[in-house]
Amino acid sequence: MLNSLPAMVENHRFRIQLGQNKWDLNREHRSAKKKCAMTEMKRTSKTQARYERIAPLYDVMEILPERRYSSWRRHLWSIVQGPKVMEVGVGTGKNMPFYPDDVEITAIDLTPGMLKRARQRAVVLDIGVDLQIGDVQALEFPDNSFDECVATFVFCSVPDPILGLRELARVTKPGGHLLLLDHVRSGNEIAGFVMDVMNPLAVRVTGANINRQTAENVRQSGWQLELEKNMGMKGVFKMLVATNGTSLPISS
Ligand SMILES: C[S@@+](CC[C@H](N)C(=O)[O-])C[C@H]1O[C@@H](n2cnc3c(N)ncnc32)[C@H](O)[C@@H]1O
Repeated sequence: MLNSLPAMVENHRFRIQLGQNKWDLNREHRSAKKKCAMTEMKRTSKTQARYERIAPLYDVMEILPERRYSSWRRHLWSIVQGPKVMEVGVGTGKNMPFYPDDVEITAIDLTPGMLKRARQRAVVLDIGVDLQIGDVQALEFPDNSFDECVATFVFCSVPDPILGLRELARVTKPGGHLLLLDHVRSGNEIAGFVMDVMNPLAVRVTGANINRQTAENVRQSGWQLELEKNMGMKGVFKMLVATNGTSLPISS
């Protein structure tokens, strides 16, 4: 008994130490989580402020690129089946002319100034769409609310794309689809490096990251990537189609 006393004391000390460490670790973990959430909130409100500034100019800035984009938009929306669809980051409503007739669309955007223009466009085009303010990283819809989610040129600017894509997987029914159009980091080593270097400036000026690896982000967020189609600039512009959980065929 006496022989084992030092060991018992040591063990007791160790357990006290362990208890303290555990408590410290919990506290550190909580404060790290709080810091992360604060950083995320700051990044999201910065993104919103950028698009609020860009909103009055957005349609003018996009006149030239839109010449190419509109046929891609038409193609993407031609494979949307619905019936319940969410458009994420509706912006000024550039996809509205391509909405299929027989689907019920809810469209969200982070930025009031963009959404205001989308509302005006919906009135002009006489389109029935439920437009709401919302952050794709923290959606207020219950699980399995939609058959399909669509986003065009959005995941280049969502501060935490993985969080947003996971939220979309939550609100999309099992077997439902995610359809994206976006620009991504070039697969070419040199062009990719240039995009990395230029990215901070691009974010400041346009609000969009030019070096996102969106196909990889989709895979990492629990979606099964079914289609990765190069649309232009040697694969910088892509159309991506993914299925939530079980694989269902989709025509492209
Ligand atoms: C480049 S614009 C694209 C607009 C539109 N989809 C289009 O194709 O023209 C990006 C849009 O995504 C929105 N956005 C950025 N982050 C978002 C988020 N976390 N949740 C919802 N919308 C977001 C911005 O407010 C902006 O309207």
